[in-house]
Amino acid sequence: MNEILIEGQRLRLRRANIDDLNYIMTLQVAPENLKFIVPFDENYHRAIINSDGSEKSDVIVEEVAGGQSVGYFMLRELDSPCAEYTHVIIGKKGIGYGRESLNLLLAWTFDVKKFHRVWIDCKDYNSVALHLYESLGFVREGFLREIILTGGVYENLIVLGMIDREYFCKH
Ligand SMILES: CC(C)(COP(=O)(O)OP(=O)(O)OC[C@H]1O[C@@H](n2cnc3c(N)ncnc32)[C@H](O)[C@@H]1OP(=O)(O)O)[C@@H](O)C(=O)NCCC(=O)NCCS
Repeated sequence: MNEILIEGQRLRLRRANIDDLNYIMTLQVAPENLKFIVPFDENYHRAIINSDGSEKSDVIVEEVAGGQSVGYFMLRELDSPCAEYTHVIIGKKGIGYGRESLNLLLAWTFDVKKFHRVWIDCKDYNSVALHLYESLGFVREGFLREIILTGGVYENLIVLGMIDREYFCKH
């Protein structure tokens, strides 16, 4: 039985199970996603899926109508007051699923689970993701210079965060 985190009009978020492993790996290495994320290997995901989910969780975004998987999030630090969203990937892009699924994830984070804050990092040239995060209310908190090596080039990360009271001001 799949554990559902939260459900909206078009989408629901549920914990990944072992049958989702192939989808998660495929989504991560698709060129349009890979350039913006740091992929983890299959064993790392397998361990997360097989865990009780109390510290890390792989989450599938799926369509309510039909149950098709359309995206994937990785959540970490769930055993602290400050959750981290690490992977945010939508396979069916450009039709509002990113915004809708992140709104659901924020509702789960603050309304349901009562986290104090959530944070995320993002490559500084990922303008689509930065626009999305900031329009949802994330605040730029830091700039990590040349912190990840991608194809021989050191890249910068922007750290963004949202505090519970900022979320509740908007919702
Ligand atoms: C970033 C990502 C999650 C956004 O999901 P999405 O479903 O495509 O986005 P949405 O359709 O919900 O659109 C969200 C906003 O981005 C804008 N947007 C979406 N695609 C865009 C594009 N190609 N160019 C410019 N703006 C774009 C939309 O107009 C919308 O803004 P608006 O509501 O102000 O008009 C998705 O594109 C993705 O998986 N990208 C690759 C992986 C990645 O970068 N992850 C983030 C790592 S930090």
